[in-house]
Amino acid sequence: MYVDSHAHLFYEDFDEDLPDVIQRAIHAGVEKIIVPGTTLETSNEAVGLAEKYQLVFACVGFHPHEASKATDTQLAEIESLSRHPKVVAIGEIGLDYHYDFSPRDQQRNVFRKQIQIAIRRNLPIVVHTRESTADAFEIVREVSALNRQWKATEQGDKRGVFHCFTGSVEEANILFGLGFYVSYPGIVTFKNSPVLTTLKTIGLGRILLETDSPYMAPVPVRGKRNEPANIALTAKKMAEVLGERLDEVARVTKENATFLFALDQEHQHWPLRT
Ligand code: NI
Repeated sequence: MYVDSHAHLFYEDFDEDLPDVIQRAIHAGVEKIIVPGTTLETSNEAVGLAEKYQLVFACVGFHPHEASKATDTQLAEIESLSRHPKVVAIGEIGLDYHYDFSPRDQQRNVFRKQIQIAIRRNLPIVVHTRESTADAFEIVREVSALNRQWKATEQGDKRGVFHCFTGSVEEANILFGLGFYVSYPGIVTFKNSPVLTTLKTIGLGRILLETDSPYMAPVPVRGKRNEPANIALTAKKMAEVLGERLDEVARVTKENATFLFALDQEHQHWPLRT
């Protein structure tokens, strides 16, 4: 019943017990898991997981933390990797001005180059921002205006998702207008969570669920290693906050993820190893 739209299952946190993690996810009602890469190496690992597990789909890209390592040769490899039938987006890409692990001009440059890959491949993007909203919005606004055909469909535009969204109602509405979705992890279950006010106003329309595993574990497992099975805890809290039924939260967020990432289409036909 759920799609976990963001889980980094390639991290060593999962080396010991990934098959059990996948089984627990299935028992908890997780039907599909999107695994975004953070470097060329982990993008390859994400694709490997998508080849191994039917319910896993991959995104490929350089996280802003890693932007200084993204050479043109490596970006070209990301682009060719994106042709794999189980790659559903370019990500996780974006800007992180909180940690500044890569110089900001380099982050912006690599973000723009990766959006151009997404446009050439007609794929959506999975975006990470932290203390960088103004610059990230300016970039996506500019490229969306210059490339109106990018992921434009009769059912609505679907250019990507801003994951782990902590912005305001106003910011959410700007993104929706540009054809983007926003996704929420376990942060909605935290006490006095600042995202609840925004969530109540924007409703389910353009929202996805995610765990951001292994990070952002929801209450009551906050602080522990997170895993896709915990998405049910976030969905329950979201249902409570919105005054919706749990199955409605699951249904709408799954529909949104399925539409954005085209999960019910060509990607299904990959010949699985197991
Ligand atoms: Ni992430």
